[in-house]
Amino acid sequence: MVIASTRPGRLGPAVGDWFVRATAELGVDLDVADLAEVNLPFLDEPEHPSTGIYQHEHTRVWSRRVADADAFVFVTSEYNFAMPATLKNAFDYLHAEWAWKPCLFVGYGNTSAGTRGVQMARGVAGSLRMLSIGGDIFLRIADDMRDGVVVDSERLNGRAAAALRELCRVADVLRPLYRDGISVAPAVRADAAEVAPALPADVAELLVLQRCCWVDEAVANARLDLPALLESEGEVRESLRTWSTWCVRSGGRLVGSVRARRDGDIWEIGRLMVAPDHRRTGLGRRLLAFAEAQAPDSVEVATLFTGERSDRNILLYQKSGYALTGGTAPAGAVRLTKPLAA
Ligand SMILES: Cc1cc2nc3c(=O)[nH]c(=O)nc-3n(C[C@H](O)[C@H](O)[C@H](O)COP(=O)(O)O)c2cc1C
Repeated sequence: MVIASTRPGRLGPAVGDWFVRATAELGVDLDVADLAEVNLPFLDEPEHPSTGIYQHEHTRVWSRRVADADAFVFVTSEYNFAMPATLKNAFDYLHAEWAWKPCLFVGYGNTSAGTRGVQMARGVAGSLRMLSIGGDIFLRIADDMRDGVVVDSERLNGRAAAALRELCRVADVLRPLYRDGISVAPAVRADAAEVAPALPADVAELLVLQRCCWVDEAVANARLDLPALLESEGEVRESLRTWSTWCVRSGGRLVGSVRARRDGDIWEIGRLMVAPDHRRTGLGRRLLAFAEAQAPDSVEVATLFTGERSDRNILLYQKSGYALTGGTAPAGAVRLTKPLAA
């Protein structure tokens, strides 16, 4: 549930409280996102939200919260025949996170009972691929509220419960579309991928991605004692201090990463990983080339390690100019090196 208005003394939270109360018996898990608390500044992301490249922590937090939802109830006032700017701003921040999820509006206002504001919001929601199911609820402040509180009535409470029940049923049907079916965030095109330095806020996702990617390595090499599989969140966090790590995001999700550091006169590259659904897009090669390009001028050789039976990786590295060179390598791994262009 999104509470749209943010001004001091607003009625939005009271309307939201009523809706929660009126629908409590359904046992639906309603995460109440009060935009006054979410506290988004006016859209301050440089990239279009469809890229999923978010520079600010407030956007990532909002993205995760919206992505986690199965459906939306927008509790919105009407300001000057329109939705409040805060709601439009909250919509504009994200893209794929809204898509293919059903939504319901609870509008309130004076004479119009919020209908014009909701009408406008429905159009915006539609352009974000949300599905407005209809059956929206409208409250006239003079009729339905007393002393800043919605007056419970069997009629109104029954409508709220029926609307939420319908919303949940539609969400059940649509779930395959937004969980693993239609994606509105096209796989990152390798040449367009924005590679950004990893931040401490990326650690949890980095850990998930590396575990996911190194399961294949464990299978290919028939061994489980791989550091990338066993590392803790704290160790990944610590590694951000000792390595330069870069990430690529798509639809708000971390889908690729690589890291590198100088070791004497060698540029050591590691943890090259691409999410399974973004493989075969050239992203791995792009990340590798990016990591190589970050080498200091005085370093002439790049090196990396992979499992001795990781045939696919070895092939990818050989295609990118690396050769198996022998020399020290962790147990079960092989070393590959590549001369870096001056
Ligand atoms: C800037 C502003 C514009 C308003 N415009 C409308 C309007 O167009 N239609 C309407 O029915 N009520 C309008 N109202 C009255 C609101 O419906 C009423 O103040 C309501 O409490 C606003 O929601 P909020 O308390 O959550 O901010 C407006 C109120 C404000 C503050």
